[in-house]
Amino acid sequence: MKAIVFFTLQEAEGAVLQDHTAVVIDVLRASSTIVAALAAGAQSIYPVVSTEEAIKLATLLGREDALLAGERRGLKVEGFDLGNSPREFTPETVGGKRVVMSTTNGTRALVSVAGAERILVASFLNLSAVAVACAGAERLAVVCAGREGRFSIEDAVCAGMLLGRLKERLGGALEVEDAGRAALALAEALVLDDALFEDAAAARALAKIDMLDDVSWCVRLDVEELVPELKERIIQRADGGGA
Ligand code: MLT
Repeated sequence: MKAIVFFTLQEAEGAVLQDHTAVVIDVLRASSTIVAALAAGAQSIYPVVSTEEAIKLATLLGREDALLAGERRGLKVEGFDLGNSPREFTPETVGGKRVVMSTTNGTRALVSVAGAERILVASFLNLSAVAVACAGAERLAVVCAGREGRFSIEDAVCAGMLLGRLKERLGGALEVEDAGRAALALAEALVLDDALFEDAAAARALAKIDMLDDVSWCVRLDVEELVPELKERIIQRADGGGA
């Protein structure tokens, strides 16, 4: 396996990924929220870039079962049903529903890798399950969403831990380049706990809007075994399980 790591979605935009499996990571919070939504029984998630596109798509799908979810500056978009806190996505709120989602970084990252052969969504919540799901790929592109075009430490640590799982499985068969080596070294040097990301830019931004509890919620390791997969603009569980 040849693995490449992009530390921001902007780095990945324009990359030729058609023979790659892409794994998109936005720990705080889109990829964690997508995992939470599917775990709560959501039928599918439609990632879109703009709020206008989200409203149009939800209307087209039928607002009786298509919810609007997402954030701008971390806060629920006016007129949307849900924001982007994974804690909002429960069986009661999203069970059986389709969710049209637009966020600042995460959904843009998903759209940016649309040309990839396969697209999976990773977070700390489902890290090992994603490692198993992508272990057979010959070419892997790990795309960190980052935050507003800048490096996000929580995404980079998650990418490094994913590569660490793959290194355990593949040994010397895993080839990484500079960014992959940096992500691996970062993950090996740090201990994943609630305090690790307290000073991360994304965590500080969430604290300002009284959503700091999302951070500890999103750094729980391997609490879900589901693997979200994006196919033809729709994210569902890779095993087709769930709603
Ligand atoms: C996102 O998930 O796209 C953003 O990174 C931040 C957020 O959820 O507030």
